[in-house]
Amino acid sequence: MINHDTIERKVGLLGVLVAITVSIGGLAEIIPLMMDPQATEAAPGVEPYSALELEGRDIYIREGCYLCHSQMIRPFRAETERYGPYSLAGETVYDHPFQFGSKRTGPDLARVGGRYTDEWHRIHLLNPRDLVPESNMPGFPWLDETEVDAGRTPGKMRALQIVGVPYTEEEIDAASDAVEGATEMEALIAYLQGLGTAVTRR
Ligand code: HEC
Repeated sequence: MINHDTIERKVGLLGVLVAITVSIGGLAEIIPLMMDPQATEAAPGVEPYSALELEGRDIYIREGCYLCHSQMIRPFRAETERYGPYSLAGETVYDHPFQFGSKRTGPDLARVGGRYTDEWHRIHLLNPRDLVPESNMPGFPWLDETEVDAGRTPGKMRALQIVGVPYTEEEIDAASDAVEGATEMEALIAYLQGLGTAVTRR
């Protein structure tokens, strides 16, 4: 019979037993989530990003927007009053990688889609202080001067297809034409304007 005294005196045994106990707790939390359709299937109305939005998503990542902005509204009153309905797992099933973030130097962007006009975003991204004088967000003026590399869009969609985003062959074939000539600014704004709209539109 191993009693508590013995376990506490044998560090190796204690370590093994702690590992077993923690894994049981972990598995009990993780496995049901992996099976739960609410967490693994798209929420109603959620579609894969269009070719232009996808290019915008990549610029969002490249410019490090996620270092100052989260995309995860938690189910607390202070958050839902400010940002809108709390985020659902099924809204991010097509996000590879997801953009939840953990730093809020700026506001959460999970439902920023439709909150401002395209022109507001353009002026704001060129120089945030033109619209919000106290803002410490940097300007991103080069986005307006660079075009999206349309040749790479189909490959990006194909990569996402491999991890389960249901792009059709027609969508992939049409992708380069869809983003041809668009500036990085236009792509980023298309991405921002789509964020969180599937759920708020209902
Ligand atoms: C250094 C931190 C920082 C970075 C990096 C940053 N932002 Fe911001 N952002 C802020 C702050 C602070 C605000 C609030 C003041 C304002 O509106 O300018 C803000 C506001 C915003 C807003 C308005 C949100 C609202 O609900 O009013 C949008 C949209 C936005 N940022 C998009 C972006 C995008 C896109 C990028 C990347 C290209 C980015 N930000 C990078 C700090 C940052």
